[in-house]
Amino acid sequence: MRLTKANECLKEEKNDLAAANETLTKRADQLTGALQKLQKEQHDTIQRLILVTIYKDDESGAHVVRVSRYAAFIAEKIGLNAQEVHNIKCGAALHDIGKIGIPDGILFKPAKLTAEEFELVKLHTVIGANILSESCCETIRTAREIAPTHHEKWNGRGYPHGLGGESIPLTGRICALADVFLRNIDSIRQIKTQVDCTENEVALAFSAEQPAEKIVRLKDYM
Ligand SMILES: [Fe+2]
Ligand SMILES: [Fe+2]
Repeated sequence: MRLTKANECLKEEKNDLAAANETLTKRADQLTGALQKLQKEQHDTIQRLILVTIYKDDESGAHVVRVSRYAAFIAEKIGLNAQEVHNIKCGAALHDIGKIGIPDGILFKPAKLTAEEFELVKLHTVIGANILSESCCETIRTAREIAPTHHEKWNGRGYPHGLGGESIPLTGRICALADVFLRNIDSIRQIKTQVDCTENEVALAFSAEQPAEKIVRLKDYM
């Protein structure tokens, strides 16, 4: 009699456990779904921020996309992990977001800028930092590092703060390198010098020639 009772109790507990297990599995699925939705929404918001940059300064988006890809390429080459590469890819796409605060008359002036006007243009680094500051999103925090440092130079002659060497965050150095490298490639093309390899091949050759640490220093190109 006692044994039957104990068996029934055990059976009940087993059923309870199975039910609790089912509830937990459902809850875990819901949480995974919610996390994926949140990540998707975060990605979507960042892409729209990138579109803001493109609308202001880069109608086709070509420059932003290329800087972003090259920065990711360099980051990968020097052995940063997948999350860091992703953050740099998105952060580099936002490097010039601060240009939104520069008057069009100055930003798109066809003639040479006066010294005062150039001082104003330089402020896009600081404006970008302000726009991106105090975010809890890791990718935006990387962008916040890049925006104020992508015009700093290894030799300390950049702006806005004249930082030099490793006092410039690695993310800023990577973005500056991608930006300057592409500008060089573009000006070579503009003067119609024969470039008989693709940009990726140039970048690969370039990185194979130089030890990884030097790629991000590259003082000769900055
Ligand atoms: Fe810039
Ligand atoms: Fe740029």
